[in-house]
Amino acid sequence: MSTDVAPTPAEVEAAPAAVEIVAFCCFYCAYAAADLAGVMRLAYPPNVKVILLPCTGGIDSIYILRAFEAGADGVFVAGCLEGQCHYQVGNYHAKARVRYLKELLDEAGIGGQRLEMFNLSSAQGPRFAEIAREMTDRITALGPTPLKRRGQT
Ligand code: FES
Repeated sequence: MSTDVAPTPAEVEAAPAAVEIVAFCCFYCAYAAADLAGVMRLAYPPNVKVILLPCTGGIDSIYILRAFEAGADGVFVAGCLEGQCHYQVGNYHAKARVRYLKELLDEAGIGGQRLEMFNLSSAQGPRFAEIAREMTDRITALGPTPLKRRGQT
């Protein structure tokens, strides 16, 4: 397909739908890193929707499950580097919740690989862009969430 010509309706129909990814990001690190990626004009997939949290420790399991229920194909939680949470241990609590929810998603047939936890500093704009691409590649390979496929039938 040429890049300077609009796709035909058949090409649009045949193209795989972009996966939707929700990124819950801590204000002090991951959100700042995402901002830095933007300032540095680093490209990362636009299907990653960033949601700001004061700290990943504040994320309730229900937020993550609701994101999947609302149509996210993948979710990641991004907090401060281990040992550097501004609320001491928030990122450790988030890590434990993510670990538990990965098992739950596996048991529910949704797939624990659709959820991940990352740790980065506010200076790691390039790492944020890399994580967004990694998760997009992973979720694209997995395809749409089974919840969506069930909703289509
Ligand atoms: S303040 Fe960043 S994870 Fe807690």
